[in-house]
Amino acid sequence: MTAGSPSGRARPGPVVRQVTEDLVLVEVGERKVLAAARCPHRQGRLKFARVDGERLRITCPLHHSTFDLADGARLSGPKCDTLRIVDALPDPSSGGAP
Ligand code: FES
Repeated sequence: MTAGSPSGRARPGPVVRQVTEDLVLVEVGERKVLAAARCPHRQGRLKFARVDGERLRITCPLHHSTFDLADGARLSGPKCDTLRIVDALPDPSSGGAP
């Protein structure tokens, strides 16, 4: 048996891609966030991060700091600066910006 969404369509999981030496692209469905590739704590490589697609959060693989992908705010983990968010494209199916 397989678990699926009520609509029967599989929802793609979050993907983190290294796009330049300094940036990663986080894709959650149609939503895309361009962020710094290195964690502001001690430079953990965020291309190996875990992403919570429901809450739009990213967790560093080194010391497990979690950042909000909307604004880069640190939500948990060792004290450090905010994660640099370069750009964010909303999910077009959510209605988008006015
Ligand atoms: S390097 Fe990311 S939490 Fe320490």
